[in-house]
Amino acid sequence: MEKQWTADELREMARQLGNPSGEGGIKTAEMMNISNQGMIANTIALLDIQPGDQILEIGPGNGKHVASVLDSFDSVYYTGMDISETMIAAAHALNAESVLAGKATFTLSNGKTIPFSAHTFDKIFTVNTVYFWKNPLQYATEIYRVLKPNGTFNMSLATQEFMEKLPFTIYGFKLYNKNTISKLVVKAGFQLIDVHEQIDITVGRLGQPVEREILILKCTK
Ligand SMILES: C[S@@+](CC[C@H](N)C(=O)[O-])C[C@H]1O[C@@H](n2cnc3c(N)ncnc32)[C@H](O)[C@@H]1O
Repeated sequence: MEKQWTADELREMARQLGNPSGEGGIKTAEMMNISNQGMIANTIALLDIQPGDQILEIGPGNGKHVASVLDSFDSVYYTGMDISETMIAAAHALNAESVLAGKATFTLSNGKTIPFSAHTFDKIFTVNTVYFWKNPLQYATEIYRVLKPNGTFNMSLATQEFMEKLPFTIYGFKLYNKNTISKLVVKAGFQLIDVHEQIDITVGRLGQPVEREILILKCTK
């Protein structure tokens, strides 16, 4: 029988997904490595990474997938920016060789502003973080600012319809459908090139396959 979660347990799950901390945060990130693997890979594949690209990821969690970005070309440079100190430390540890080699950096963010100059990055992507942005328009506008002209910004998320079925999303998640997320990026200044609607096959808590509806937005400046 499916376990019945208490309100406190669900609130804690939501908190760990939005800002993983301590031992629980490390475990949550390891779980996300499995459940979000396909979604992350598809978002990166649609970035069309080129030699020499400066890449920014917003909210990489423990950054287990960063090697797959760096493996695209020798000359790409990756920056991961996260609001969680636990995730920044975990990502540093998991990608120690790339950090030492000067190919990757992980930076702590305040979740409101992005500590880089205008027109710094060729490619920016984010997976499963928009639910937690405190001021979505201000943050999307910050992303627009640091993207180079003609650069690409890919954002992926699970749809409101899917997320509403998960019992922990009532604790602070902001949910979007195709229309509301499209409006957000356009209002921030982006040109919306495409919205890929996909069925992502992920794994549930009992290891069972779960189909989730996801959106991958491809935007340019
Ligand atoms: C649900 S996890 C997703 C992690 C990974 N992207 C994935 O899909 O598996 C959300 C991550 O985004 C981070 N995060 C939340 N709000 C953020 C913000 N405003 N800026 C940067 N990172 C943020 C959290 O700390 C956490 O590491």
